[in-house]
Amino acid sequence: MKKNHPIKKIALLTGGGDCPGLNSVIRAVVQSCILEHGIQVVGIPDGFKGLLENKFIPLDLLNTTGILSKGGTILGSSNVDTPFRVPVTKEGKKIYEDRSDEVVQHLKQERVDTMIVVGGDGTQSIAHGMSQKGIKVVGIPKTIDNDLNGTEFTIGFYTAVTTAVEALDKLHTTAESHHRIMVVEVMGRNAGWIALFAGLGGDADVILLPEISFDLNKVGAYLNDLYHSRKKYSIVVVAEGAKPIGGDVVVSKIIEDSPEKIRLGGIGHRVAEQLEKITGRESRAIVLGHLLRGGAPEGFDRILASRFGVAAVQAVVEGKFDTMVAYRNDNVELVPLETGAGKNRFISPESPFLQTARHRGICLGDSI
Ligand code: F6P
Repeated sequence: MKKNHPIKKIALLTGGGDCPGLNSVIRAVVQSCILEHGIQVVGIPDGFKGLLENKFIPLDLLNTTGILSKGGTILGSSNVDTPFRVPVTKEGKKIYEDRSDEVVQHLKQERVDTMIVVGGDGTQSIAHGMSQKGIKVVGIPKTIDNDLNGTEFTIGFYTAVTTAVEALDKLHTTAESHHRIMVVEVMGRNAGWIALFAGLGGDADVILLPEISFDLNKVGAYLNDLYHSRKKYSIVVVAEGAKPIGGDVVVSKIIEDSPEKIRLGGIGHRVAEQLEKITGRESRAIVLGHLLRGGAPEGFDRILASRFGVAAVQAVVEGKFDTMVAYRNDNVELVPLETGAGKNRFISPESPFLQTARHRGICLGDSI
């Protein structure tokens, strides 16, 4: 039933690295806005880049039909652009300008002062900044990394885990044929959620996480023991942000203009090389990388996206701004936007998922 609300139009944006489930959330927001509340929706292309460029795309029931199951985001996304730090070249020198007042004007010209921002910690940080400039903002958490503070699950995480588990299932068979150690590197930045869940679901022998610095001599001893006692091949899952005791993460790229400059990657090959030396057994590394961000969202993500989308629209209608929808104990709740803005959630030593791995005898790199 359409109701008469003071808010007539909202702008919807997907920011940061893409993930499966973004289109599901776009679909849910558009359906809830139009069908339940009679609110118009405009999409902003390519995250905050589109807002800087003053671009808006009308979203309706027709142009969002059939997208719920589609990976990626029909709006596009960017994980380098923020209106608070725009690179410009002046007198041959690169400097950064705050152009947030300009994007506020763009929204006003479009007659919209309410935004639903779908993103990870970086995007929610920009969203919170926009909120402080008077824009009415509600955030929706997404990232395959599942590392956003304030919510137990983010859109995209479960699909990434499913993709990793399917890859691990395949790697088991080739590893077994060749009696090899297969080292599988997964994304996740400085949090080990993807690695831990993939390792649990994909029956890894070893899981190396950013939260627990590892000792490869211990891992090697564990793998040798396994080889001689019951299993001639091994699967090692390593998070891209994992590091050895006293060592540092492996950086694959520095992107100066990005708010989050460091891109991780490369630890998998290092671990494989060293394990080959330590165990004397053939090892291979594979990096799943952006494969984890691709493809259609699986069921959990589609439903989570629907719940988040509807709850965010409800928050708009109830005037609860500067907030973020969050998944807690099977409920979707509202938390202050600040909770997720630039803040991460890591695996604690008490995590039931981590404890499950320990109880299953999976090596976490800190003991044999
Ligand atoms: O935050 C999502 C994520 O996929 C991380 O897991 C990864 O470290 C990063 O983004 C990769 O970013 P890019 O797409 O810029 O390579």
